[in-house]
Amino acid sequence: MADLRASVPLIGPSLLACDFANLQREVRRLEEAGAQILHLDVMDGHFVPNLSFGIPIVEAVRRVTDLALDVHLMISNPGDYLEPFRRAGADLITIHVEAAPDPTGLLDRIHDLGAGAGIAVSPPTPVEALRGYLDQCDLVLTMSVMPGFGGQEFRPSALEKLRWLKERVKDETLLSVDGGLNLATIGPCAEAGADLFVVGTALLGHHDYGERLAELLSLVKSHSSVPNEPW
Ligand code: DX5
Ligand code: ZN
Repeated sequence: MADLRASVPLIGPSLLACDFANLQREVRRLEEAGAQILHLDVMDGHFVPNLSFGIPIVEAVRRVTDLALDVHLMISNPGDYLEPFRRAGADLITIHVEAAPDPTGLLDRIHDLGAGAGIAVSPPTPVEALRGYLDQCDLVLTMSVMPGFGGQEFRPSALEKLRWLKERVKDETLLSVDGGLNLATIGPCAEAGADLFVVGTALLGHHDYGERLAELLSLVKSHSSVPNEPW
C-alpha cells in the first residue's frame, strides 16, 4: 500500500473494457503504457444487473503481471469470497457498503488476509453511510456511475461526495473514483480531491494506451486541488 500511496495520482485501467481474447497482451500494453495498478470489476448478476468475471480471471492476470490488482467486488455476500480473491492475487479488495450488513468485520478480515481494504458507495447512497468505516480503509471508492456496466455517462453528483470524503479520510487512504471518467470529467475529480482514477472505455478504447494514459495523467496534475501535494 505504501508504494501505491507514494505513487499518486494513479490511473487505474479497468480491464472490463479490454479484449479478453488477448488478456495477456492487454496487460502487457498497459504495463508498457505506464500503468501501476489494474482495476478488476467482479460482477455477480445479483448485486448488479450484469455478470463479468471471477476468480479464474483474477488468477490469470496475477500470473502475467506484478502490477497491483485492485479488485472491485460488485457482488452480494462479499464475505463469502474474500479468501478466494486474496488467494487469486488481489492486493486490494473493495466491498460495497450496500452489500455488507457488517462492513467493519469484512474490512478487518481483508486486513487479516494481508490485503488492502476498500469500501465503495454507489450514487443513490448518501456518502455519510461510510462515516463509521473510513478509518479502517486503505481505499475509499466513489462510484460516478451506477455499478454494473462500463461506458456510462459520468454523474457529477460524485464530486460532492469526493469533497466530503477528502476532508475526512486518513492521509494514507487512496481516494478513488470510478465510472465515466474521460478527458472532460477526470479534471473535476482531481479538483474534488481524488487520487486514484479508474478509467475503462476512455483508455482501453483508444488505439495508443500510452498516449491516452499520459493525457489523463497530465489533466489530473494540472487540476490538482491540493496545493502542497508533491505531484
Ligand atoms: C462499473 C465499473 C467500472 C467501469 C468503468 O460498474 O465499476 O470500473 O468498468 O468503465 P468506464 O470508464 O467505461 O465507465
Ligand atoms: Zn469498478
